Amino acid sequence: MKTANDLRQEILAQVADYYLVAHQNQAFVPGESRINYAGRVYDATELQNLVGAALDFWLTAGPETEQFEEALRDFIGVREVIPVNSGSSANLVAISALCSKQLRHGLRPGDEVIVPAASFPTTVNPILQNQLVPVFVDSCLGNYNLDPNFLEEALSDKTRAVVFAHTLGNPADMDAIMSFINQHNLFLVEDTCDALGSKWGGKLVGTYGHIATLSFYPAHHITMGEGGAAYTRSRRLAKIARSIRDWGRDCWCGYDNPIDGKCGIRFEREVPGMPGFYDHRYFYTEVGYNLKLTDLQAAIGLAQMKKLASFITSRKANFAYLFENLKQFEEHLILPSWHEKADPSWFALPILVRDDALFSRHDLTRFLEENNVETRTLFAGNLLKQPAYKEIKHRVIGDLPVSDFIMRAAFFIGVYPGLSREKLDYMIDTFNSFFKQL
Ligand SMILES: Cc1ncc(COP(=O)(O)O)c(C=O)c1O
Repeated sequence: MKTANDLRQEILAQVADYYLVAHQNQAFVPGESRINYAGRVYDATELQNLVGAALDFWLTAGPETEQFEEALRDFIGVREVIPVNSGSSANLVAISALCSKQLRHGLRPGDEVIVPAASFPTTVNPILQNQLVPVFVDSCLGNYNLDPNFLEEALSDKTRAVVFAHTLGNPADMDAIMSFINQHNLFLVEDTCDALGSKWGGKLVGTYGHIATLSFYPAHHITMGEGGAAYTRSRRLAKIARSIRDWGRDCWCGYDNPIDGKCGIRFEREVPGMPGFYDHRYFYTEVGYNLKLTDLQAAIGLAQMKKLASFITSRKANFAYLFENLKQFEEHLILPSWHEKADPSWFALPILVRDDALFSRHDLTRFLEENNVETRTLFAGNLLKQPAYKEIKHRVIGDLPVSDFIMRAAFFIGVYPGLSREKLDYMIDTFNSFFKQL
């Protein structure tokens, strides 16, 4: 009779065959095949890992999640990684952790948080959810990051934190930002959802602030479908973040759950204000959620982690190739710029249509889309112009002209590792055709 392991090996071998027949890349037909701005890049290993995890049937966060946590920790070189179910959840966990009552000097309702107006919505939403007050500043033209020149003006006696994303993988000016953070003793949350592998001054972004976040949605540097992580060098913040992720419970047991708990006194815990003992697993010190990852996702993530270094190389090469070939259109378009200390692991290539161009963003993106080159606007543009944010409590510094310009004229195209040289050339040809017909 076949053992479980024999059967498993047979199934996984069949999955590899299935990948070859059903998933391996279809031929690219210029003009007919769609060139997405991003997408999953995977081989049989991702499918085999997923099926393997399904056969194990752990389902929730378990051994695969623990291994993924370790792989990510090693890559970033950070002490604590807290896997969660999305980048948005990672931002919620990160900012909520800074609001913990367990931190004597944590953030409190009414405290102000400086954030760029041109942000991804769920970078800002946890600020609102925690009753903090966002103070919106403008971004840099062409660089799309928080403009540090506005930081001093944004400062008040209520300012306690700065939160921002390294936009599309382009590192923000960490020298200016860290000097402001240190001078005023503020918290810093770095949203690196689009910037896994980006460096400033040779050091990975996300390792500058108190806590940082990642997304593993398919558009991002690695994917597991849905998924994300918060990471920090602080053991204390990590314990709080895990608790917020895991219903708010105080217990820090993982999936390998010893009878008396990792604390050793699971059933002999005293709850303040309650006579006798209470099971530590059901002892809550945070107002939490359930934002856990599943082992099915983590198993895919483990295969992706092995490809991460080559993904980053490929993103940089694709960006460089497109950038060089789009320079000829700079009379009409503003191409992205980055600081000499920045080494971006690009998420995408952002473009601004100049105000004096003879065409609008709509004209250009419509042409690209009709020719099967996918585009995206730079997320929400100026968040304050979006209906959901009309009535939020906030402060704003200046008129946000760059954020408005981004909203009016910016879009981005892909640089992800799934773009072959043939596809990149087709993208450039499509730009050429647009400018020829002007
Ligand atoms: C900068 C930034 N932050 C946060 C997120 C949210 O990540 P998720 O889609 O995994 O919730 C995204 C999503 O693309 C993002 O680009």
